[in-house]
Amino acid sequence: MLANIGQLLTLRGAAAPRRVAALKEISLIEDAAVLCGGGKIIAAGRRRDLLRDPWLKKNRRKVQELDCHGQVVLPGLVDCHTHPVFAQPRLVDFEKRISGASYEEIAAAGGGIRSSMGAVRAASKKELGAKVLTGFQALLRHGTSTVEAKSGYGLSTEAEIKSLEAIRDAARHWPGTVQPTLLAAHVVPPEFAGKPDQYVEKVCDEIIPLVARKKLAEYVDVFCERGAFTLEQSEKILAAARRHGLATRAHVCQFTPSRLGGLLAQKPASLDHMDCVAPEDLSALASGDTVAVLLPGANYFLGHKDYPNARKLIESGVPIALATDYNPGTSPTPSLPFIMSVACTHMKMSPEEAISATTINAACALRLQDRKGSIEPGKDADLAIFGVTDYREIAYWFAWNRCVEMVVAGEKTNLTADQR
Ligand code: NIG
Ligand code: FE
Repeated sequence: MLANIGQLLTLRGAAAPRRVAALKEISLIEDAAVLCGGGKIIAAGRRRDLLRDPWLKKNRRKVQELDCHGQVVLPGLVDCHTHPVFAQPRLVDFEKRISGASYEEIAAAGGGIRSSMGAVRAASKKELGAKVLTGFQALLRHGTSTVEAKSGYGLSTEAEIKSLEAIRDAARHWPGTVQPTLLAAHVVPPEFAGKPDQYVEKVCDEIIPLVARKKLAEYVDVFCERGAFTLEQSEKILAAARRHGLATRAHVCQFTPSRLGGLLAQKPASLDHMDCVAPEDLSALASGDTVAVLLPGANYFLGHKDYPNARKLIESGVPIALATDYNPGTSPTPSLPFIMSVACTHMKMSPEEAISATTINAACALRLQDRKGSIEPGKDADLAIFGVTDYREIAYWFAWNRCVEMVVAGEKTNLTADQR
């Protein structure tokens, strides 16, 4: 039992994904407690009501108490977009950008995603698995207990499989929940320079079927962007994914606008970045369940003035989520609270909206809303405890990790030590 909770944000209630005004509903309970058993939430509510719970009366002797010292408890955060399988930071790109080069210029000159590829291809599965686990541990320390994890720096059949196996191996040593995604279509690898359609064919006819057969991924993603893959190529890749029983998502409208009709026809769980969505696409997005995942860590790290237009999307009825985009090229941070801070200060989201966007709506972006993203009986007992007394502080403090404790599947985790 988590006892002595000053503010409990249950996020229960309104249908998910949350849109417009419902995005602000965090269902706050003061002076609260949460009962967990068998890795699930049994009950959550006012402390004095919970003390009368029949389950608690029956199990009183075996129940351990975790004193939350009047602090804030919310669902374990859900990071619905990360790229954790890389071997090294990209310091040359970092310095080139400081000297004035843009992300696209650096990529066109052979830097960018392709420069992460060599080290991933050269690394052993064990080395990569250790790097992924280091990332997962950092995410956990900042409040995240569910993570989507993409391959995408291998760009060959062998190295993409190795990357997904590294995710699987790291997930076995991590208490949280991992949703793996194949992103073989991140950029065209050098072996296929000038022959992008041949690489798309290989992704569709060889890599996707193999990954599906080996059950190494839940999702297939594609980078739909000038310099990466065209809309037509992207649609082909997502269609191949669906034929092989895999769900879909896509990076789109990060730097250049694309019309979204063809991608939406592939029923993606999410469309991510969405910095420059055409106004004509807003009503189609608002009428579906595809979640727009906004990644302002990339705007921050690339030094952009502009951020995704969260207000416009929210007011149009589009369901949105926020994620870190944890990766070596555009967003080397494991901190969802930092992303919430950026969303509040630069995108004018309210603290309540930022919390819904990193819990219940992020769970929807992974189609895990029946298990994750809110504190309700029957859901997984994944809870984050922040060392603050007002929930608005989670997005207020920045570059200061206030997460003090994580409970995952009903168990208190060890946040300081690595698990292997
Ligand atoms: O989400 N945009 C594509 N993929 C990543 C960046 C990858 C990289 O530069 O390493 C992103 O920003
Ligand atoms: Fe990304």
